[in-house]
Amino acid sequence: MKGILLAAGKGTRLYPMTLPVCKPLLPVYDKPLIYYPLAALLQAGIRDIMIIIPPGEEALFTRLFGDGSRLGVHISYAVQPVPRGIADAFLIAEGFIGDDSVCLVLGDNIFHEQDLIGKLAKARANTTGATVFGYYVDDPRAFGVVEFDETGRAISIEEKPRFPKSNYIVPGLYFYDNRVVSVAKTLRPSARGELEITDVNNHYLQQGELNVVTLDRDFLWLDAGTADNLLSSSQAVKRVQDESGRYIACIEEIAYRSGFITAEQVHEQGLLQSKTLYGQYLMCI
Ligand code: G1P
Repeated sequence: MKGILLAAGKGTRLYPMTLPVCKPLLPVYDKPLIYYPLAALLQAGIRDIMIIIPPGEEALFTRLFGDGSRLGVHISYAVQPVPRGIADAFLIAEGFIGDDSVCLVLGDNIFHEQDLIGKLAKARANTTGATVFGYYVDDPRAFGVVEFDETGRAISIEEKPRFPKSNYIVPGLYFYDNRVVSVAKTLRPSARGELEITDVNNHYLQQGELNVVTLDRDFLWLDAGTADNLLSSSQAVKRVQDESGRYIACIEEIAYRSGFITAEQVHEQGLLQSKTLYGQYLMCI
């Protein structure tokens, strides 16, 4: 399975913060925002990753991750010249995906749960069709929203509905079989001028091949797309880390526990950051 991390948004909802630096590189508490979605791909066991970035920013991303070897994975970069929507990722990454299945994660989404690895493994094991998640929020209007029938089966997904049919939104973590590339090719831009991921999901749904896994309240999902959300995400990450004594999205630790790198490699990376608690944590692994 290939992994795509879509980090190409300009972050206009975060101006002026994102005038000098793009959104995925902004901090969420103690690490760059992009660590969190990257952690989700690593926790899904994915080692071949393409990061889709905005034009002119490659040097910053490579300074952070290089070719991925420090995490024992392979990371390549592709530019999205114009923000044409989330589903455009499959057109940009067509050659990278090849004959494989693919997991797509959005660059401003944060996921945390005790058994995240187990949930991702299940989604990955489902090799036909698509798997997305459903997450309860109080105000779903800014998201893709799932409609369920009386038996609890998903029957539609609406993008940013004025009158949502449920409180379950679809977070930015999606698993697809290889057909997703041809599905993306059939899409037409929506009213907001974007190739919508919700249209991809509805396509699978209409074929009876969309698996919607609802997440319970223990699951922590955050979208750091606005100033308020960025701040509350930082606060949530700090709270969970302080309470549990464990790091959320410690990508070096995840790579180590996944068998991608050795304890010595983690230690070396800790040494480079030893003035921070993050670096000291790495050195104790
Ligand atoms: C996008 C998707 C939406 C999804 C959300 C998750 O919204 O279009 O379906 O629920 O990400 O963060 P956007 O970031 O484009 O507003």
